[in-house]
Parts: sequence; C-alpha cells; structure tokens
Amino acid sequence: MTDTNYRAVWDRRSADDLAALEAVDNSGSEAVARATGAHTADMVATAVDLGPDDAILELGCGAARIGRELVGRCGHWTGVDISPNMIKVAGRRLEGHDNVRLEVLERTSLSMIDSDSLDKAYSVAVLCHMDKEDLFLYLREIARTLKSGGLAYVETWNLADPVGWQRWMYEVNFWDRSDHSERKDVARNQFCVAEEFALYAERAGLDVLVVFRDSPWLQMVVGKDLDAARREQERNRLAEQRSKIAHTPLFGQLFLEAIRVIYGDTHPKQSLRRLDAMGDRPEVGLYRTLIEGLWEQDPDRYGPPPEE
Ligand SMILES: C[S@@+](CC[C@H](N)C(=O)[O-])C[C@H]1O[C@@H](n2cnc3c(N)ncnc32)[C@H](O)[C@@H]1O
Repeated sequence: MTDTNYRAVWDRRSADDLAALEAVDNSGSEAVARATGAHTADMVATAVDLGPDDAILELGCGAARIGRELVGRCGHWTGVDISPNMIKVAGRRLEGHDNVRLEVLERTSLSMIDSDSLDKAYSVAVLCHMDKEDLFLYLREIARTLKSGGLAYVETWNLADPVGWQRWMYEVNFWDRSDHSERKDVARNQFCVAEEFALYAERAGLDVLVVFRDSPWLQMVVGKDLDAARREQERNRLAEQRSKIAHTPLFGQLFLEAIRVIYGDTHPKQSLRRLDAMGDRPEVGLYRTLIEGLWEQDPDRYGPPPEE
C-alpha cells in the first residue's frame, strides 16, 4: 500500500542516522553529508545575505545537513520538519549548540512560529516533494513569519531545463510501470516552470527578487515588504553574487551522472571517468565525492571500490 501522508514516507526513510542522510542527499554517509551540507550552506547564506545576528528558519530541515553548517553563522537557527525521525537525527547532529530550536510539523503550517519574527528563511529539496497546494501554503507561511525586509531562498525542480525534464521522465516512467489502482506516492518529485513558481510566491504575498533557472532546479530568492529601492539593491546584489548561488548547467550534468548511478543506468566507474573529463571545478569534486560514496556503500552491486 502506498503511503498516503508525508510523515509516513519520510519517517520510513529516516529510521536511523545513515538512512536519514541517504534520504536528504542520497549519500548515506556523514562525511559526504558534511561536504554537500557545507556547499549548500554557503549557497543559502549568500542567497539570503545571512548576518551573524539573524534568526533563520529552515523549512524541511531533515537531518540538519545544512543547519549544522549554518548554526555557527547566525544568531538563531530554527529547523522544522514533518518527520519526527528526521528531527531526532537533526537533534543528535546539532548537539552542543544552544541557539537552535527544532519542531515537528503536524500539518502544512508554521503555526508555532510567530508572525513577523524571522530575518531569513530557506527550504532546500522540500517543496519539490509535495503537492502544489502545500507548496503554496508554505510560501504563505514564509510570508507570514518573515519580518518586513526579510529574505528567503526556496527551490523546486525546473521542468523547462533539459536535465530537469530527464529527471521528470524518471517519475513518468516509474508511474507508467506502477500499479495504477494505488495512489501516487505523496512524496514523489514534482516540478514547476519558473513563471508558475514565481506566481505562487507573488500570490503568497512575497516580492520575487530572482528565479535562477539554468539548471534542473528553480532557485528563487524572495523578500517581504521591500520598497522599490531595497528591491533594486537586492537584485543588484544577487546579480553580482549569481555565480555563488545559481547552479550551472555543469552542475545539472553532474547531477544527471549521480542519478544515473542511483537508478542503476550506469556504473560509478563510467560516471567517474566522465567526471574526469569535466575538469577541476569545485562542483565536479563534490559530485566525485558523492559518486565514490555511492560505490563504497554498495560493493555487492558495483564490485570493490578503487583503493584511492
Ligand atoms: C530531501 S530532504 C531535504 C532535507 C534538507 N532540507 C536538506 O537539504 O538536507 C526533504 C525533507 O523535507 C521534509 N518534508 C517532506 N515533506 C514535508 C512537508 N509536507 N512538510 C514539511 N517537511 C516535509 C522531509 O521529512 C525531509 O526531511
């Protein structure tokens, strides 16, 4: 029987610490999660212009892959998630920090967070795993809980990107092979085009500053109650810092290599060879770590991983 609610799916995927890490970034490895977490944390901090005193919220914080890397860079970090198991893992990974609040969500609402209380908010790899009604409700909640002048970073899958389309086709083909008398997986990957994603944000009451769209992900930075001068200032800042925020087409190609390995379409050895031909860029190193990690975790499937 297909799970019919978000919590059941994500609790099942996070029964222990390593399972939770696998669910958040496909790694199943503390070392890889720290590497991908640090990379994503830098991107988020730049997108929302994170300051040392900021109160920041992560919607769908999972195992605190990103939060663990941001908690020392802000005044207060709050992580909320639909899955009690994820929140337990996040708590263990954040032990020793006293500027942290963790909350289990009961429904698509941030009712435990006061209105106008947050300087910043973000959500990574979460809004793509829910129905559009829930995506919109959460954007409305971000609009409610941000202070005037606050900023948020949110993302979902980009259907209009060539790799985004290929990712969507994995979902289409999976459903095509599935039992159609069952409901679809509630946590399946869902996709938008940039105009649709921006429309939800605008109708939720947020000012859309930018939607980066050159990769399989739509990366949107929004603000609350920004006057024209501040909007222009933030747009200029985001344009200047684009290379630190926007995923590149190369990042999309690397991601495709990773999902080909995950879905069994290619052997990690072949993917790593293709990565070698992509040069020495930091994102290539990040995906090399991820793909090597996938190989190390499953020697029965792929054979013994290389020594080095
Ligand atoms: C792929 S993980 C990403 C976790 C984290 N943001 C990261 O990037 O490491 C998706 C997370 O979203 C949470 N989630 C899924 N559906 C949700 C919902 N409807 N409301 C709140 N959290 C949800 C899951 O429990 C899971 O922790």
